[in-house]
Amino acid sequence: MAEKKVIAVAGATGAQGGGLVRAILSDPSGGFAARALTRNVNSEKAKELAKLGAEVVAADVENVESLKKAFQGAYGAYCVTFFWEHFSPEKELSQASNMAHAAKHAGVQHVIWSTLEDTRKWVPLSDNRMPTLMGKYKVPHFDAKAEADHMFTELGLPVTFLLTSFYWDNLIHFGMGPKKGADGKLSFTLPMGDKKLPGIAAEDIGRCAYGIFKKGREFIGKRVGIAGEHLTGGQMSAALARALGQEVRFNDVPPDVYRSFGFPGAEDLGNMFQFKRDFEQAFCGARNLEFARTLNPALQTFDQWLARNKSHIPLE
Ligand SMILES: NC(=O)c1ccc[n+]([C@@H]2O[C@H](COP(=O)([O-])OP(=O)(O)OC[C@H]3O[C@@H](n4cnc5c(N)ncnc54)[C@H](OP(=O)(O)O)[C@@H]3O)[C@@H](O)[C@H]2O)c1
Repeated sequence: MAEKKVIAVAGATGAQGGGLVRAILSDPSGGFAARALTRNVNSEKAKELAKLGAEVVAADVENVESLKKAFQGAYGAYCVTFFWEHFSPEKELSQASNMAHAAKHAGVQHVIWSTLEDTRKWVPLSDNRMPTLMGKYKVPHFDAKAEADHMFTELGLPVTFLLTSFYWDNLIHFGMGPKKGADGKLSFTLPMGDKKLPGIAAEDIGRCAYGIFKKGREFIGKRVGIAGEHLTGGQMSAALARALGQEVRFNDVPPDVYRSFGFPGAEDLGNMFQFKRDFEQAFCGARNLEFARTLNPALQTFDQWLARNKSHIPLE
């Protein structure tokens, strides 16, 4: 049997990378092997991946030499940065640069860069509909990823740009689930009016990425977007109500109110939702559901995700 093509996966103990590692390992005859990158090979999550059959290697995206070693001999590399660990667009840029240089050094044949839109193309810094953040961004965690795109192309890497979507898992891990009001009733807050939010089960991002690697050269040099469904806040609230068996009101607040919530990243997220609201067609249009399903036939709908995950959503 031909030797398996190794995919080196950044963020392997996390959402996107973890989904990709599990997708590779659940398809033993697919011709690919998973190399999981982690800063701590002894963590429980790293050990779990090893148990499933991944090659677990130490690497830190802050350290280009560790990445060069981790990418050595790999056919593919999945590159992702971790904005919410540090809230620094500059760190995302330097970490993306590290991964691009390491992929070039290792001669990787297919890189997937997990990126997002540069919102400043739609909302220039001079546009006051939303505040400029950190001096030169509208949505820092989007804009910096897009800014990093050129680092991959300028090195001449065979790269696919993967536009991801809002994880429904944010309702579990990111404090975005429905909240109980003074009257004991649940409400789901989304500052998007009647516009649709492309969402996805985080696990499906990795499965779609695996679909891209399996297609060989087809998507090299391309920009592809994925989502599980495009849903309004009202539709998400109705789905939550069905799944939870209780009323869930849709709390449609203006982006200004969302920005003022005060939690770390509230302004960034308020701008992000406003961008998705004001440019619904472009943003949804870049994330084709049928296309995502061709990459990942098991792509979940929000109802399916809820059926599996509703008991994990904290309802405070
Ligand atoms: N939440 C959303 O809705 C959403 C939607 C689209 C895009 N995104 C983007 O997704 C990105 C995060 O991806 P994710 O959700 O898959 O991450 P995640 O679940 O938070 O996982 C991050 C993993 O990355 C590893 N990591 C952190 N810092 C590292 C470093 N310096 N070097 C090497 N590994 C490091 C950690 O593993 P170890 O501790 O094992 O090293 C951790 O398990 C963010 O940039 C965010 O903007 C999020």
